[in-house]
Amino acid sequence: MATCLQRDLSAPPPIPQEGIDAALAVLRSGWLHRYGETLGDASEVSMLEAEFAASLGARYAVAVNSCGSAMYLALLCSGVQRGDRVLMNAFTLAPVPGAVAHAGAEHVLVEVTSDLVIDLADLERKAEASGARFLLLSHMRGHIADMHRLMALCERLGITVIEDCAHTMGANWAGQPTGTFGRVGCFSLQSYKHVNGGEGGLLATDDEDIAARAILHSGSYMLYGQHRARPPEAVFDRWRDVTPNFSLRMSNLVAAAARPQLAMLAERARIWNDRYGRLAAALAPLPGIRLPHRPQEEGFVQSSIQFAVSGIGDARFANFLERCRGRGVYLKWFGAAQATGYTSVSGQWRYLADPHTPPNTAAVLERLCDMRIPLTLTDEECATAATIIAEELATARST
Ligand SMILES: Cc1ncc(COP(=O)(O)O)c(C=O)c1O
Repeated sequence: MATCLQRDLSAPPPIPQEGIDAALAVLRSGWLHRYGETLGDASEVSMLEAEFAASLGARYAVAVNSCGSAMYLALLCSGVQRGDRVLMNAFTLAPVPGAVAHAGAEHVLVEVTSDLVIDLADLERKAEASGARFLLLSHMRGHIADMHRLMALCERLGITVIEDCAHTMGANWAGQPTGTFGRVGCFSLQSYKHVNGGEGGLLATDDEDIAARAILHSGSYMLYGQHRARPPEAVFDRWRDVTPNFSLRMSNLVAAAARPQLAMLAERARIWNDRYGRLAAALAPLPGIRLPHRPQEEGFVQSSIQFAVSGIGDARFANFLERCRGRGVYLKWFGAAQATGYTSVSGQWRYLADPHTPPNTAAVLERLCDMRIPLTLTDEECATAATIIAEELATARST
């Protein structure tokens, strides 16, 4: 009988005991909401913000209820107004165009390369043609563009960069953490990200006005003094009476579960990258499989693996995916006609003014496979997963 992978690839990283204890303490105390008239600045959320800002080397961090909310606030507080155009990679996930739509802005879709990063030549073309002054850049699936070239280009074109680091917490380009290149970095604590808080987002910035506005918008009930990683009072004085409360706060329960994981990020990155390396080494030599090139400057944290398959028609490719799934290797496919679990491409976002998948991106995604790497995947399971993919690809080609 054919070997199967006896492992749920969708299992999120477990909450460490320290996080469980802290979450229980929050539950017992009843202080789930981050603010209280008599509270100081040591709530779990305030501590998480301060620790996260310090880990990035950012001046300020603001915790919210999702990365989608963080991106929405980042756009708004960076000056995006209704009807403004926002550049974004065409290959990303639904919360990104959602944040642009939430801000009332118009999407300008930019191609990605076969290495799954934004195409800088197309970015320049689209920026000039559209007049857009904002870029919401996704480091999609952990793939990081040449941030030095990208920032130089955006500076020359007068474009404000907001980084979507939902897939790059703990990652860097040439030693500088992602999320610190642009004006704002946005991170996710959703269960499938590098730190599992269930739901949650973090916005990091050195800009005092953006930080104060994001705190006020997130819904601080004028208790912003209870934030540790916050700008001086005088900055809030500029914004406090003109900034609506959107109630996008993070709960202390989420922060309690997340804080110990933040401290474990470097070790988690080592494990994920080790598993990625094993899978990549086994898959790369297979005929008709291509893995994205990873430049030396790219300090990724790879909790998933992507590879493109070539030389196989639609029906055989669908059969290959089906057979892999039947043996426990669940591969997601961004090229499918219909968006399904955690996939979708820009042509399927029909609420856009001009929904389409740019041609090069469509070609890149056509046969792109995407596999989650659970933190608990063993060396042996990496080998089994790669064997199953190799065997089923060979079968699909020969039938
Ligand atoms: C590329 C990307 N950006 C942003 C997000 C938003 O994260 P959240 O679910 O915290 O809103 C996700 C979530 O899956 C994502 O995949």
